[in-house]
Amino acid sequence: MVVIRGATTIPCDTKEEIRRAVSELLEQIESRNSLKREEVVSLVFSSTSDIHSYYPAKAAREAGFVSCSLFSAQEPDIDGGLPLCIRCMLFVEKNIMPSHVYLRGARGLRRDLSGKLNIAIDGPAGSGKSTVARRLAEDLHILYLDTGAMYRACALKVLEEGLDPNDEAAIVALMRDVKLDVVYEGGVQRTLLDGRDVSAEIRTNEVSMASSTVSKHASVRLHLVEKQREIAGRMSCVLDGRDIGTFVLPDADFKFFLTASPDVRARRRYDELTAKGMQVNFERLKEEIIRRDEQDMTRALAPLRQAEDAVLIDTSDMTIEEVVQAVKRAMQEKI
Ligand code: DC
Repeated sequence: MVVIRGATTIPCDTKEEIRRAVSELLEQIESRNSLKREEVVSLVFSSTSDIHSYYPAKAAREAGFVSCSLFSAQEPDIDGGLPLCIRCMLFVEKNIMPSHVYLRGARGLRRDLSGKLNIAIDGPAGSGKSTVARRLAEDLHILYLDTGAMYRACALKVLEEGLDPNDEAAIVALMRDVKLDVVYEGGVQRTLLDGRDVSAEIRTNEVSMASSTVSKHASVRLHLVEKQREIAGRMSCVLDGRDIGTFVLPDADFKFFLTASPDVRARRRYDELTAKGMQVNFERLKEEIIRRDEQDMTRALAPLRQAEDAVLIDTSDMTIEEVVQAVKRAMQEKI
């Protein structure tokens, strides 16, 4: 059994408006969840106390929901609550990931579900941003775009060609002939270099440092930022990086900046790399992380920096679950 939620508003309290709003809401819920009428077991409505003209459940019966049980109730009057609002819950006999539907004025209740949504998560290496971004994207059923992977793929190519990551002119020429793509398989981002899946190869320490160096070059950044903006313009996504809130998407709906102490960040990277069987020296790793922060924070174009309107979260003493909850709470407060 799955529960699908929905809400909408009416412009004025009349029988016609209630019937129109209920039928529109149920149609949208059915089509977005590919529902058949017989799969709906129960349908429960509530409406705000300023709605008196008609029962939403009766409107649903008239809209063709004849074989499920129906119920309507009135909500208490809540100060500052959305006026003229009808909410519903459909209990459905189907094994699906429910797509909740919020229409008209009720969209404001769930900006995470209605319309396109871009969430920017920036921060230094090891701050937890990629794990949090991935979790959030999963929970909200939207895409996770790891922008660091793009700079890493570019750095991998530079290293493979034996070029100096500081040589901007050579890298620009190289990038002109390289096809860099991100694709999604089962919700997981795969980074492709000329069609070759390099998702694992780009995670080495050598590539980490080189990616920070190639990302200093304005021509490299502008090329990749254009791709990032194009993806974010088409669909809802959580993007993580260094400059998402300040440069890539200054108008993102939600912005977060995650930090943690260098020790904690180095420890996280150490655990991550050793779990993959890589040999790493903790002290060297910490030095590299500090050097990379320095390079990312001092470059001329779009350096690593907290956007003025980003929510700052120090994750040093927090579990991933706690950070995800803090991010969701901050989003809810902003809505
Ligand atoms: O997030 P990461 O460690 O995978 O990023 C690798 C490098 O790429 C990082 O040190 C700087 C660069 N980068 C960037 O400049 N801007 C981004 N939006 C993402 C990454």
